[in-house]
Amino acid sequence: MTGLFITLEGPEGAGKSTNREYLAECLRAAGIEVVLTREPGGTPLAERIREVLLAPVDEVMNPDTELLLVFAARAQHLAEVIRPALARGAVVLCDRFTDSTYAYQGGGRGLSLARIATLETFVQGDLRPDLTLIFDLPVEVGLARASARGRLDRFELEGRAFFDAVRSAFLARAEADPSRYVLIDAAQPLTQVQRSLDALLPRLLELTRG
Ligand SMILES: Nc1ncnc2c1ncn2[C@@H]1O[C@H](COP(=O)(O)OP(=O)(O)O)[C@@H](O)[C@H]1O
Ligand SMILES: [Mg+2]
Repeated sequence: MTGLFITLEGPEGAGKSTNREYLAECLRAAGIEVVLTREPGGTPLAERIREVLLAPVDEVMNPDTELLLVFAARAQHLAEVIRPALARGAVVLCDRFTDSTYAYQGGGRGLSLARIATLETFVQGDLRPDLTLIFDLPVEVGLARASARGRLDRFELEGRAFFDAVRSAFLARAEADPSRYVLIDAAQPLTQVQRSLDALLPRLLELTRG
């Protein structure tokens, strides 16, 4: 039995966490084991790496350092949480994964996509998400939702051009592989977003049956 690996992507404030909970409820109601997790993080050690990545500091983090920390956390998360869960047949709902690396470190920081792809294969082997939901919304709407939450992290302190590049990178990835990506208009009211997820449920249930 192999489980199903679903990732939720998009900028801060897009509704990834809110809708991850909603999807989990729907799947659990169908009797499916669901594992909720997130990146960077997902294990105690990987959460410590997350703190290093997100805390604003008085030193510019070298983009390569940032990239390697993201993948270091991911290696731990895969070994401790994601692979074991998939091996026992669970559905893993992961808030951010490697598409965020392509969007933030690739799009935002301008690192080479080929190098990211090399690390992706080094850390993940051939494991890729079965399905990736991209919650898309205008940059200013996401920033407004995120800043309503309080103190901004090291990424949220970036400027407009950074977030425009992040959004474009997510959209480009969704466009390049329609079989894996589902683009969700996250600017809609939450009830509408949830109706889009309801519409997706039959496909998810079908996938869990392999
Ligand atoms: N479709 C929506 N319309 C309006 N507000 C939303 C919507 N989705 C989420 N929110 C609100 O925006 C904020 C950020 O949502 P959250 O799920 O934490 O986003 P993310 O995990 O992507 O950063 C929360 O206060 C949430 O209630
Ligand atoms: Mg969140």
